Amino acid sequence: MPDEIIKIENASEDDIDTLYQAELILFKNPWTLKNFEDEFKQPEKNLKKAVFKSRICGFAVSRKILDELHILKICSFPGYERKKIGSLLLNFIIKESKANICFLEVSEENLKALSFYKKNGFIITGRRKNYYGDGFDALNMTKDLSGGT
Ligand SMILES: CC(C)(COP(=O)(O)OP(=O)(O)OC[C@H]1O[C@@H](n2cnc3c(N)ncnc32)[C@H](O)[C@@H]1OP(=O)(O)O)[C@@H](O)C(=O)NCCC(=O)NCCS
Repeated sequence: MPDEIIKIENASEDDIDTLYQAELILFKNPWTLKNFEDEFKQPEKNLKKAVFKSRICGFAVSRKILDELHILKICSFPGYERKKIGSLLLNFIIKESKANICFLEVSEENLKALSFYKKNGFIITGRRKNYYGDGFDALNMTKDLSGGT
């Protein structure tokens, strides 16, 4: 699946159902439909979708606040894992943001995501005890973007 045939586009409110159905499968604490609807109303919102042959195969939600990029979530859809769709989305939003630093939080039990973010240059910079209320800590991860990507 060469990069050039996966397009990264702005997601629209028409995509909410597709994003939500994937969300239910992919995330332990999935966003509700209302969470998605509310996110589209945020002034700093940035919802991107990855599209392969007219089908959505991943998405990312981020917000730019001053010179900081905050990644809220990123995923590749079932059947499309490990094909660099996650990395493509991540690098696209980082480049587009022109931010100096990127922050995110991930559960310590999400080993796939930890490996994914480390591979993409993030380092662990903090820990929040039992952040999700399920006994697992949240790890704060950071990537310095000030020297360019
Ligand atoms: C984490 C996630 C976004 C990765 O997306 P992806 O498109 O599969 O990732 P990529 O193909 O770009 O992988 C890049 C690197 O991440 C790491 N990685 C990705 N999936 C992995 C897995 N299942 N096990 C271990 N490492 C993994 C690898 O280092 C990989 O590089 P490699 O394939 O050359 O070894 C995807 O697994 C996902 O959607 N997970 C569910 C949602 C989620 O937890 N999102 C992250 C928290 S918001």
